[in-house]
Amino acid sequence: MSVRVEFREVSRSFGPVQVLHGVSFALEPGRIYGLLGENGAGKSTLMKMLAGYLEPSGGDILVDGEPVHFRSSRDAEARGIVLIHQEFNLAEDLTIAQNIFLGHEKKRGWLLDDAAMNQAAADVLRQVGLDRSADTRVRQLIVAEKQMVEIAKALAREARLLIMDEPTATLTPGETQRLFALMAQLKAEGVTLLYISHKLDEVERVTDEIVVMRDGRFVTRRPTASVTRHDMANLMVGREISDLFPAKEAAPEGAPILQVRGFSVPGWARDVSFEVRPGEILGFAGLVGAGRTELFEGLLGLRPSSGDIVVAGQPVKLRNPGEAANEGITYLSEDRKGKGLHVDFGLRENLTLMNLKDYARPWLQPAREREAMQQAVQAFGIRTGNVDQKASALSGGNQQKLALAKVLQPQPRVVVLDEPTRGVDVGAKRDIYFLVQRLAREGRAVIVISSELIELIGLCHRVAVMRGGQLTATLADTQLSEEELIAHATGTR
Ligand SMILES: Nc1ncnc2c1ncn2[C@@H]1O[C@H](COP(=O)(O)OP(=O)(O)OP(=O)(O)O)[C@@H](O)[C@H]1O
Ligand SMILES: [Mg+2]
Repeated sequence: MSVRVEFREVSRSFGPVQVLHGVSFALEPGRIYGLLGENGAGKSTLMKMLAGYLEPSGGDILVDGEPVHFRSSRDAEARGIVLIHQEFNLAEDLTIAQNIFLGHEKKRGWLLDDAAMNQAAADVLRQVGLDRSADTRVRQLIVAEKQMVEIAKALAREARLLIMDEPTATLTPGETQRLFALMAQLKAEGVTLLYISHKLDEVERVTDEIVVMRDGRFVTRRPTASVTRHDMANLMVGREISDLFPAKEAAPEGAPILQVRGFSVPGWARDVSFEVRPGEILGFAGLVGAGRTELFEGLLGLRPSSGDIVVAGQPVKLRNPGEAANEGITYLSEDRKGKGLHVDFGLRENLTLMNLKDYARPWLQPAREREAMQQAVQAFGIRTGNVDQKASALSGGNQQKLALAKVLQPQPRVVVLDEPTRGVDVGAKRDIYFLVQRLAREGRAVIVISSELIELIGLCHRVAVMRGGQLTATLADTQLSEEELIAHATGTR
């Protein structure tokens, strides 16, 4: 029971803007495909049409040789086509089991069969390797665990064609490994997998073939073994990509701009002390759950905390992100949809929300707001048909760029970037690395929390490593290597 899919001249518009232009290609059963393309290339849009979430404006989608017209994701699921969304789609107040069977509830007579659902949920949780009870509420899970629930949900639908839109963006190397093993097992059972990712090393490792899209068009489909990572990057952007990281500059000297002493966030971080100088890029490494995000959420007043914070020599109390912004400290959240952006607000409102007072003299000045937005679109390469739309209409990677523009809008002295390149294409990643360096050169302190070790090694003057809520080491530029960072993060050193 395999599925063969073919796109024939598929197009799609949103209002007056056409985002897909006559896309044609086929997918053979039982293979793993990597779908590549820059942010905004149209990958998610195409996959949402295949999975019944959107309808094409023109052209045909054929499943096993016949055109299909899916009205909803249920129609697609009936043909075995299941999509795991790029942005989570879970009901926070329901349990894991309820989420897994939402819309597909198991019943005994007229009643919900909770026992059967919990049992079946436990089975798929074991398959994906999530060590949580099926009756845990989703609200209590961390981001990586939510990703595993999304995958479990798709498995429970018994997919014949499984589309994963950046599934590993939030996973640890161990969890990613387990996901790849699961993918290999599904492939052996004849399932077709479509894997969308900006992590080209993973694409190289797990896929049989790559499909490249650019500007809403199909570019090529090739055996993965026939291309290098460098080729993949060039095919995506349509030009030669040079060095990913800027040349490192000498670590700055002088008095710290931010000093943190004996800082604790109950349940997450204990007795953490560090400092950062103007012009310095300080990395934070650690496994998921090491407490990095929670430490900074505590510092910004988003969680209860204790300890001392000194900014430019002055002790300060930061009770909320607004007070932190007044002291010149801003924070880019790793959870861009939950905490980073208001996706139902317009792009402009999102950009200027943090320093509204600058745009309201004495009342709001839409013209200045527009101008700021236009500048941000330029400076950050945000790809959008129209600056008057809602943030939810941006592609995933472009939402990330908007979030970044937002936290830099108040001209912070210290900026904390939590997973700044998550879901961002290679070209834009490079732009962000050069931007981080420019911020440092302007005399700002930049703190980068990242799960991508290469990124920390390529960018930072120093890297602090956290494990189990404590700071276990701070490594200087010359000591930085993947082995060293992993050893400190896992406690084998
Ligand atoms: N609901 C919508 N309304 C208006 N425009 C949209 C909507 N959804 C997507 N678009 C536009 O369609 C284009 C393609 O977006 P899509 O999300 O498919 O890109 P993507 O290739 O998945 O990018 P990424 O790598 O950033 O996830 C983008 O320009 C985006 O702004
Ligand atoms: Mg996408």
